[in-house]
Amino acid sequence: EKGGFPSFMEKEIHDQPDAVLQTLLGRSDINGKLTLDELRIDPQLLKNVDKIIVLACGTSAYAGQVAKYAIEHWCRIATEVELSHEFRYRDPIVDENTLIVSISQSGETMDTLMAVRYAKEQGAKTVSICNTNGSTIPRESDAVLYTHAGPEIAVASTKAFLAQITAAYLLGLYLAQLRGNKFQGEIKDILADLNKIPAKIQRILDNEAQIKELGVSMADAKSVLFLGRHVGFPVAMEGALKLKELAYIHAEGFAAGELKHGPIALIEEGQPVFVVVPSPRGRDSLHAKVVSNIQEVRARGAKTIVIAEEGDEAVKAYAEHVFYIPETPVLLAPLLSTVPLQIFALALASAKGYDVDQPRNLAKSVTVE
Ligand code: M6R
Repeated sequence: EKGGFPSFMEKEIHDQPDAVLQTLLGRSDINGKLTLDELRIDPQLLKNVDKIIVLACGTSAYAGQVAKYAIEHWCRIATEVELSHEFRYRDPIVDENTLIVSISQSGETMDTLMAVRYAKEQGAKTVSICNTNGSTIPRESDAVLYTHAGPEIAVASTKAFLAQITAAYLLGLYLAQLRGNKFQGEIKDILADLNKIPAKIQRILDNEAQIKELGVSMADAKSVLFLGRHVGFPVAMEGALKLKELAYIHAEGFAAGELKHGPIALIEEGQPVFVVVPSPRGRDSLHAKVVSNIQEVRARGAKTIVIAEEGDEAVKAYAEHVFYIPETPVLLAPLLSTVPLQIFALALASAKGYDVDQPRNLAKSVTVE
């Protein structure tokens, strides 16, 4: 049942090309038109949406944070991401033009369920992105977009995360299509690039030995930091969460731009810092900014481990280790850059002899508040 892998988690990491593929399948036509008929929500209502609030916890919330960048770019709809348990206990501004997008692998997370119920009571429309057919959150939502990652058994989420980003992107592209804004031309291109993602994930998996080796060699690390900007920021937080959950190591993900506002004080000789570097082909000076962040931490003794796009030679001079991911548009990069971080956490935790499928103190579905 583990498909020949030593753990469910390792199997699920290797299931990722298929998880993304299955989530994309049958949801667009060859002309690049999204066909999310399954949403069964009045298109007029979706056209009227003036605010999106994504509600989720843990890894699913990081998927939401990634999606925010894409949805705002494609749809020009203000999008907030909030932890379900925080949303419920403030006084959020929600009305019938608010679209709530909940993201939950299990569909049973009590915090998210209660937040969705609360938003519904306020008159919001609710869409659930969920991996578990017939579970409670999709049943209680107005509409559902299933991620087709297949059952996820390991407590630490991996393939569901990539499938959640994929589904949220499809939803974003669908809303952009429906609202007929100026990104119509981009939709077809993005879909074509999304369809290339599974093969690119496979290429990363085929070269996993190098990152596994690094994970094993760092089994004694006491603390690992992760930096990213833009969509790389939630990826950094997800990389840190995997390490906390699996290896019980102190790990933090930061927005690289925040460094000088505090976190740089943590850097001392030998501190390992992962940096998720955006494509040099991306917009503005994002790449240059991150490269200078690498230099800043390195100058203070950090051991820098860089995830960068193939062909990005500029980072080599500043990195102890570089892991390359295939080229892809900036917004799609999280579907690739997350994978080495998952493999790293898995290898490190395995080297410490920990049970990666059942980390201590955690449950797969958190059905209590
Ligand atoms: O089933 P859900 O997606 O609602 O679960 C949310 C979180 O509990 C979950 O992502 C948790 O953070 C995982 N253990 C992360 O690996």
